[in-house]
Amino acid sequence: MTEQDFIPELYSKSLESGSISWESPSNIALVKYWGKKENQMPQNPSISFTLDNCKTITTLDFVKKKNEEDGFSFDVYLDGEKKEDFKPKIETFFKRIEVYVPFLKDYHFVIETSNTFPHSSGIASSASGMSALAMCLMSIEKQLNSKMDGDYLNKKASFLARLGSGSACRSIEGDLIVWGYHNDIEGSSDLFGVKYPYEVHENFKNYQDTILLVDKGEKQVSSTVGHNLMHHHPFASQRFAQANENLTKLIQIFKSGDVYAFIEIVESEALTLHAMMMTSLPYFILMKPNTLEIINKIWEFRQDTGLPVSFTLDAGANVHVLYPEKDAKPILEFIKNELVAYCQNGHYICDKIGFGAKQL
Ligand code: PMV
Repeated sequence: MTEQDFIPELYSKSLESGSISWESPSNIALVKYWGKKENQMPQNPSISFTLDNCKTITTLDFVKKKNEEDGFSFDVYLDGEKKEDFKPKIETFFKRIEVYVPFLKDYHFVIETSNTFPHSSGIASSASGMSALAMCLMSIEKQLNSKMDGDYLNKKASFLARLGSGSACRSIEGDLIVWGYHNDIEGSSDLFGVKYPYEVHENFKNYQDTILLVDKGEKQVSSTVGHNLMHHHPFASQRFAQANENLTKLIQIFKSGDVYAFIEIVESEALTLHAMMMTSLPYFILMKPNTLEIINKIWEFRQDTGLPVSFTLDAGANVHVLYPEKDAKPILEFIKNELVAYCQNGHYICDKIGFGAKQL
């Protein structure tokens, strides 16, 4: 498919007004996307677990504009409160997707959004937020063109979400999503996320993710700044090649169920993401002392018990603790007894693999 395939023909129906609600989850990358080309195209393929509990709920009300005034017309609310500071990001998103969603300027929109995770938790809401909004827009398009099939709708929603925030394209569906062209993964594309198409061992079903909130502050480095640091980065090309290799290795690992080989790739990916930021100019250290305390405790516990508990990190200090469902009891016990002390105000979120966006 090409970008051209997402430009709609004339719509067969018209709509005066309506209201649509979707919830969409966050996701956690196993092979990380870090570095992009023009138009939010990734420099390397990535793969993620879709999450279940960490999600955004968005209601989009729309009413046809009376006058033909130019420009986008919308208001945004978070938890019932008007958010003027959210508008520039949505304006940019609308500009990027306008050719694919030509009805955007015909309506006044009211976007009401809320997150199931605390606003100041340090968990990025851009993946869940942008994917929920993309699904709302696709529901409108579906009403304007009832012939659209479900597969196309999901692909286009992912395509639109990508233009809002790259990793958001991996939140439309679950449970394991690939984004970015990879030679060995059929159907993979730089344009949108697709379901991982091959065999996945029972060990990786319903994988658990306990998110330890080490630092709930604003992100020290925005993703935009971070991705840009990969331009002219001395290790960029090696890193992009490595992400491709890691994804190749994961194909066999998912099939065999080898959780220890899985851990080696996932932890290495997390540390490499942070290494990229430590070795860019300007350089950043996004971990906090407690991030390292947690990592060391996880390694110690794994060494002592042999249980397959592992970690991954986003571009921040919080730690995602990943483990199979069948080992959840002793690992959760360990998390509560030994790791929660390193969280800001003892705050953590229990999540697990989920299956993507849902209409409400
Ligand atoms: O979607 P963005 O532009 O916020 O980038 C997210 C990048 C990471 O979360 C660090 C990695 C990933 O693949 O999700």
